[in-house]
Amino acid sequence: MITNTELEHKGNLFPTSLISYEHDQDSISFITKNGVRLLIQVLRDNMLRLRYATTGIFAHDFSYAVDENHPHGFNQLKIEETDTHIVITTEKFICKVARDDIRVGMYNLDGKPILEDELGFHWEESFEFGGSFVKMSKTSRDQENYFGLGDKPTNFNLKGKRLSLWNTDQYAYGKDTAELYKAVPFYMGLHNNMSYGIFFDNTFKTHFDFCAERRNVTSFWADGGEMNYYFIFGPQMDDVLTTYTDLTGKPELPPMWALGFHQCKWSYYPESKVKEITSKFRELNFPCDAIYLDIDYMDGFRCFTWNKEYFPDPKRMVSELEEDGFKTVAIIDPGIKIDLSYDIFKEALEKDYFCRRADGPYMRGKVWPGECYFPDFTNPEVREWWSGLYRELIGDIGVKGVWNDMNEPAVMEVPGKTFPLDVRHDYDGHRCSHRKAHNIYGMQMARATYEGVKRYNFPKRPFIITRANYSGGQRYTSTWTGDNVATWEHLWLANIQIQRLCISGMSFSGSDIGGFAEQPSGELYARWVQLGVFHPFCRVHSSGDHGEQEPWFFGDEILDISRKFVELRYQLLPYLYTAFYNYVQEGIPILKPLVYFDQQDVQTHYRADEFIFGNQILVCPVQEPNVQGRRMYIPRGKWYNFWTDKAVAGGKEMWVDAPLDIMPIFIKEGAVIPKYPVQQYVDEVKIEQMTLDLYYKLGKENSEFYEDAHDGYEYRQNIYSLRTFKLTGKEDEIILQQHKSGKYSSSYSTFKLKFYGLPFKIRKVFYENEEVPLEKLQFNAEEQSMIIDKEFSELHLVG
Ligand code: GLC
Repeated sequence: MITNTELEHKGNLFPTSLISYEHDQDSISFITKNGVRLLIQVLRDNMLRLRYATTGIFAHDFSYAVDENHPHGFNQLKIEETDTHIVITTEKFICKVARDDIRVGMYNLDGKPILEDELGFHWEESFEFGGSFVKMSKTSRDQENYFGLGDKPTNFNLKGKRLSLWNTDQYAYGKDTAELYKAVPFYMGLHNNMSYGIFFDNTFKTHFDFCAERRNVTSFWADGGEMNYYFIFGPQMDDVLTTYTDLTGKPELPPMWALGFHQCKWSYYPESKVKEITSKFRELNFPCDAIYLDIDYMDGFRCFTWNKEYFPDPKRMVSELEEDGFKTVAIIDPGIKIDLSYDIFKEALEKDYFCRRADGPYMRGKVWPGECYFPDFTNPEVREWWSGLYRELIGDIGVKGVWNDMNEPAVMEVPGKTFPLDVRHDYDGHRCSHRKAHNIYGMQMARATYEGVKRYNFPKRPFIITRANYSGGQRYTSTWTGDNVATWEHLWLANIQIQRLCISGMSFSGSDIGGFAEQPSGELYARWVQLGVFHPFCRVHSSGDHGEQEPWFFGDEILDISRKFVELRYQLLPYLYTAFYNYVQEGIPILKPLVYFDQQDVQTHYRADEFIFGNQILVCPVQEPNVQGRRMYIPRGKWYNFWTDKAVAGGKEMWVDAPLDIMPIFIKEGAVIPKYPVQQYVDEVKIEQMTLDLYYKLGKENSEFYEDAHDGYEYRQNIYSLRTFKLTGKEDEIILQQHKSGKYSSSYSTFKLKFYGLPFKIRKVFYENEEVPLEKLQFNAEEQSMIIDKEFSELHLVG
């Protein structure tokens, strides 16, 4: 097993010189003297796939990550020969393959290097397992930086790091814990204002070295399988990421309630305790949309059963909670208790659905229920069966969301905390050992869960959350960062991890607010809520044995601060929902790290505290105790301090006040931010009026506002509304134009416009090019607000 350098290993083998190549439609196949085959597939103008077969013969092509409906096709492909290279030119970049040793280099159309092989492809044969350890090394350019790789709990910029991907249950992990719950073998490099992406689609344990071993070399390798990677050219990170999510797929829009505040704990039981918690939320006017049931709702931790002593009538409870505006989310783990009187166990045994060891015995391991067997979710028939198991939970009882946990898969009290490597898997007909299936086990479980919840919750949209995942798993599920700890360092980590997940294609993610293990101080809790309300998924969760973590537990001051921020999230729901729309349509991350927002500004390359929520809100959490403010970097452009409405010019670091009830928030100039009134849960009230906050800009800025029925699938039949607001500010006037598409008609008929930062006094208003008296628009000079019909197309204010 190699865990050390990919280089110093004695047994490395390399391709020799090219003897021939063939071009067939989108593929160019190269063969070397020593029989290595390189297959380059041109998938998009900005994306190539590169596969290497050391024996010249490729295994059957199969991927769990790639979305079968991913868009592909290119505009241009030219293949030329020079004395030294075969040169492939697309509309966006150039790829050169060397005749000497088939090393590959990528260049932009001006010939500037984007990414070049250092040693390039090499491999080491594996006598023990068969096949090879497959390796790739690339040169790193001066000032090149690296971003991505999913949930890694380490510095945001990965330069100087060596990391491996092997899904692992890491209770109370720490900064730099090498392996966590997810495997996302995708990263982006950035240098000279050019960004590219590498997606190494290999489900074996993979390794990545970003200039850790050698200053100017990056490498990636796997313990088996194929050297099979996608190269995506930007030059903007935006282009790289949207191409990556096109390839690995986008989720459907979640129901809007899933974007509300969620309360969880291990565990709320019995029913009276659950009701006590939910009632308290309502009594204290603290908005909340979902309550979670952790493992104790089950009968002896048997999945798909209920402890009837604690929950005598789950269907009634779930519907009563729903009447009070709470959706119920229940946990389901993969381990099935060995118990012949338990139907699900019996059925899976009879149908041969459990994973087996190499020589035939079942894979037996201890999890919460005690000794368990584990369904092989890589078998399509097992997934189909598993989906069907949700009929009662979702279809009859009315649970609205499912939480999949322990699916790395986690096994207690054994070395490695997971299955031994000899366990067999179906891998959708490509039978293999756990070495290959480990990293996609959790993803396939979440996939089967998604199918089931979707089926039985239809025509409403499903909500799934999983702990383990692999690239492409974003198509099925949201995720969280697992068992973190109530420390300031973990608040810092949560901020980085969620930004990293967002630029790894998995935007719908959040951390256990307040920390899962141990107990936060009131101050830490409040600071964590402040950050958490700006994460795509927003849930408080904690382990039962460390005290309470409901917002009222820390006293009135913390309760009020937390409420103020959760209320802000509820006001911003239409803005967040629009960001989700952009994510599911285009793959645009919901949070944008500063480097993603403005890669040209090198000041952003090592920034990780600040991020952009959606497109126009800059957020910077406070990550230390006892402070009244902090220094933060404001990206280039002009920004309004959300709390003081004062505008500042960015492109520099500055001090920002942030006593405990404030977290620094800035709004980009020119932004139009749609806001709801505060509700206690999504759809509590009929929205009678939408507020649009408009931030003056000298110049132009576009903003979007997406709406639909908040649930259901009608939005796919054009029953949505997408408004684009174009704001143009001049010295003493401001023009707001609206363009609308889609057929959804919202419940309100007017917008309340609130203006911020106007450098002039409004004297005249032209509505659809006709002057109207200010009183007619209920102009409020003090508030700088007015009310207009929601279908306006142009408004013109003159000073
Ligand atoms: C795992 C999960 C945690 C859950 C607990 C009990 O530790 O990560 O969220 O509460 O199991 O189910």
